[in-house]
Amino acid sequence: MPDEISAEDAQNTDKQAENEGQATEGAALTFHVVTLFPEMIELYCRTSIIGRGIKAGRLAVKSYSPRDFALDKYRKVDDTPYGGGAGMVLKPEPMFACVESIKRPPQSPVLLMTPQGRPFDQSLAAQLSAETDITFICGHYEGFDDRIRSLATMEVSLGDYVLTGGELPALTIIDAVGRLIPGVLGKMVSLAHESFNDGLLEGPQYTKPAEFRGMVVPEVLRSGDHQAVDRWRRERALEETFRNRPDLLEKAPLSKTDKEFLAKLKKQL
Ligand SMILES: C[S@@+](CC[C@H](N)C(=O)[O-])C[C@H]1O[C@@H](n2cnc3c(N)ncnc32)[C@H](O)[C@@H]1O
Repeated sequence: MPDEISAEDAQNTDKQAENEGQATEGAALTFHVVTLFPEMIELYCRTSIIGRGIKAGRLAVKSYSPRDFALDKYRKVDDTPYGGGAGMVLKPEPMFACVESIKRPPQSPVLLMTPQGRPFDQSLAAQLSAETDITFICGHYEGFDDRIRSLATMEVSLGDYVLTGGELPALTIIDAVGRLIPGVLGKMVSLAHESFNDGLLEGPQYTKPAEFRGMVVPEVLRSGDHQAVDRWRRERALEETFRNRPDLLEKAPLSKTDKEFLAKLKKQL
């Protein structure tokens, strides 16, 4: 039996979520997580935005442990690697039985968390947000028996570093995808200016007070001139991206005005 985080479990510490989290209709997206550490998934998914999404009935998260499908009385899920070497490798039999037990649409994606996979990014998050079910397979220890790859429709990496297990990558993807589901964030409009949404990094944001320790909020943001604010935000986003992630500018859709602004910026350096 999968462990499901119920709407009731999703006790949100976020006050706003407590006020807004009313169940309305069936979950738009169900995440199925195959992991030896279901408590890691459950703990995170009870809080903040994902907790709110569950409470509102828009998201569901179910975790499944391969240990429940182990063949021996010690519930062994790993073994020493063929050919020798340090560490333990996840065995195929409990993993196959566990993944095959999941009730999900047969064509739905199964993501294997691995440093060898395709790097996760916002465009993959957007693509995945159109699904009704997403299954994650989390490795642990030295990794998994290579035959486990055949269970996956896609291999995904969080980045060029090695983590202890696939749980943090799976949670990262759950978070990035879950917040794109309508009704999960309070206002969908808050996604509009987020980093990567339009291929750029987001520019700086400010709140009250207008002056703090001599640092002053730019005048334009307090001017009430919406057109000037939009132009300022766009230019700061272009500047931020140019300075920190110039590679993103190669793919970002840029207007003539954007290109002129960037040309001016380059000349200043
Ligand atoms: C300690 S790692 C194993 C690393 C493996 N020996 C290697 O060198 O590729 C254990 C598990 O954590 C997960 N993991 C670690 N780093 C990851 C990353 N950057 N992206 C996605 N999953 C990762 C994978 O599920 C992996 O099987």
